[in-house]
Amino acid sequence: MLKAVCYRGLRMKHYDLKRALLIFSLFCIAFFVVLFWQQNSAIDEVSQLFPVYKKSPLLKKERKLPYPPQWHWQCNGKHCERQKVAPGVSAVSLSTCSMLCGSTQLWPQPSGPVTLGSKTATFNHHQIQFKADAKEPAATLLNHAIEIFKDKVLDYVQDVNYTVHDTDVEKILVHLKVQHADVVRLRLDTDESYHLTIKSKAHQLSVNITANTFFGVRHGLETLSQLIWWDEYSKGGMLRIIKNASVKDYPVFSYRGLMLDTARNYMSVDTLKRVFIGMSANKLNIFHWHVSDSQSFPLILPRLPKFAKVGSYAPDMTYSPEDVKELMLFALVRGIRIVIEIDTPAHAGSGWTWGPDEDMGELAVCVNKQPWMLYCGEPPCGQLNPDNPKVYEVLETLYKDLLDMTKEDELFHIGGDEVNLECWQDSLSSATQKKYGDFHDLWGDFTLKALESLQKANGGKRIPYVLVWSSNLTKRPYVSKYFNRSNIVVQSWGSSQWPDTLDLIQDGYKVIISHVDAWYLDCGFGRWRETGDAACDPYRTWQTVYNHRPWTQQGVNKKQVMGGEICLWSEQVDETSVDARLWPRGAAFAERMWSDPSLDLNTFSISEDVYLRLNTQRDRLVARGLRPEAMWPQWCLQNPGMCL
Ligand SMILES: *[C@@H]1O[C@H](CO)[C@@H](O)[C@H](O)[C@H]1NC(C)=O
Ligand SMILES: *[C@@H]1O[C@H](CO)[C@@H](O)[C@H](O)[C@H]1NC(C)=O
Ligand SMILES: *[C@@H]1O[C@H](CO)[C@@H](O)[C@H](O)[C@H]1NC(C)=O
Ligand SMILES: *[C@@H]1O[C@H](CO)[C@@H](O)[C@H](O)[C@H]1NC(C)=O
Ligand SMILES: *[C@@H]1O[C@H](CO)[C@@H](O)[C@H](O)[C@H]1NC(C)=O
Repeated sequence: MLKAVCYRGLRMKHYDLKRALLIFSLFCIAFFVVLFWQQNSAIDEVSQLFPVYKKSPLLKKERKLPYPPQWHWQCNGKHCERQKVAPGVSAVSLSTCSMLCGSTQLWPQPSGPVTLGSKTATFNHHQIQFKADAKEPAATLLNHAIEIFKDKVLDYVQDVNYTVHDTDVEKILVHLKVQHADVVRLRLDTDESYHLTIKSKAHQLSVNITANTFFGVRHGLETLSQLIWWDEYSKGGMLRIIKNASVKDYPVFSYRGLMLDTARNYMSVDTLKRVFIGMSANKLNIFHWHVSDSQSFPLILPRLPKFAKVGSYAPDMTYSPEDVKELMLFALVRGIRIVIEIDTPAHAGSGWTWGPDEDMGELAVCVNKQPWMLYCGEPPCGQLNPDNPKVYEVLETLYKDLLDMTKEDELFHIGGDEVNLECWQDSLSSATQKKYGDFHDLWGDFTLKALESLQKANGGKRIPYVLVWSSNLTKRPYVSKYFNRSNIVVQSWGSSQWPDTLDLIQDGYKVIISHVDAWYLDCGFGRWRETGDAACDPYRTWQTVYNHRPWTQQGVNKKQVMGGEICLWSEQVDETSVDARLWPRGAAFAERMWSDPSLDLNTFSISEDVYLRLNTQRDRLVARGLRPEAMWPQWCLQNPGMCL
């Protein structure tokens, strides 16, 4: 368009040449201004993400030491041994010792070969320079990944004045290379591998990260940030880096999910960003957002704003379409995609009550019905009304909104868990009662119609992977009647001792594993009500999370395991305690999904290396402003090998 206008300017021969030239130049300048402005507003959109997350000022309290450090550490075989600082001996900090003593401190452990040198260098953050070798559109994302990386390095710094000290290196040149710059959407077949090298020459370090996609380079930067640490013993505190390294890395599973429920208790947009910061540090790549439930409906849908209006806890306990957009970008530059689930037909009450006001009849039945034990798993009850044809129209519009908002048309989660047939038996017409001898078929028909609404919402195109929770309907004999194995993926959440997962795999379905006995992080906090079943005690320890490898079970075709997802339901957690529920257990899960390290099958005991690496990773999360749970007494960290 720009070219055409300038050309027409030149053709105005009958005008005075000067005037024509002037008009022509003004035209072109105006055009450049408009173009520049448009480009800027696109970039502005992403730059609103910064500053990213203001960390708690509590974390870096300046404090005058009452006496100098008394301990230092010496690598003895594979352990760092704590010793008293002696005069004349140069003291080595625990962080430096553990980086160099018998293990990498990388988390998740890379899948490919890792070679780390034993020499280190001090530096300061001004000395890092970047050369990004990527075309648009990956280049824009990469620039953000670089800013995020810089933030991470700064997060380690504990002394604001450390840059006055001399450093071992003068410059660290980080060269980032993305081969396929057109890949800026994360898909299940996206190549997330990368190769990282660090080499030193004279007073310069050169770091190379090459990958096929932006997502690989981003993971590489994450790993690079783990080869850097704060050494509190050199000159009162310096940044330190390993001088020689090579890491080849790729994920074992392409679906590495974390599910969070924001319906039982609301969590703010900033809290969700904090969750993404934790996920990206651990290379988790799918945020499954269980946004609504029978308790509340906080998502403001552009075409159906009534849902949030009648369903949210309060006007400020909502997510606007702009919030979702902001979260999508925030997640994307951290290598995460967002899959929003609006659970149906069960777990649907709040938000679904506006039907009669709009002459659309009851969209949901059993809403708040008592005694709740008869009609749902926990109060309040609520389940969609399969008899009302308007329900399927509403679903289509709702799905259209979700597709528009997330631009996510490869994976779609329709919910589908814990349908209570009693509720329908008590609420539906006698015609329906007669038509269905077995209400599982009513549930199946509802699901088929919902899937049809989804396909219509997607412009008639099938979604390649539609996710559903496992349920009685995903059991034999119903599963093969209602679910097409070519595009339905079952998120199997029952106990790993149940036959469900194996049956599904043997029947040819792809699965996402979320076994309740290993990967439910909400369990173990006691009961929150007097009646009904107890909550799912006991607490799943990080060791339980880490040790779970159901794909090694006999009869499991690993190709059908798309990946896993760790789940946090929010009956007993909100934003004040969500960090500690998620981390470090979410990190333990992440290593299981990323490189799936082997286990000692005789003892199922976890080696000390894992404890120490996970602790280091936990400390990184603390440095980034998160509040993860402590793993053990600090004494065990200071005395490796003495606690296990
Ligand atoms: C850092 O340096 C500035 C300027 O020299 C000084 O005012 C400040 O007290 C120093 N801060 C610390 C924590 O040493
Ligand atoms: C880094 O990559 C660039 C271009 O890919 C290459 O020319 C250079 O030799 C590499 N440097 C190192 C230290 O590997
Ligand atoms: C760096 O590592 C490479 C291979 O990992 C090795 O060949 C080389 O000698 C190392 N250089 C130094 C200075 O340690
Ligand atoms: C699933 O079906 C079994 C037996 O058919 C029944 O006992 C159980 O209550 C059902 N579960 C749910 C959640 O409806
Ligand atoms: C499953 O979907 C595929 C692809 O659309 C189709 O060819 C096949 O007939 C479907 N199978 C069943 C049992 O509906």
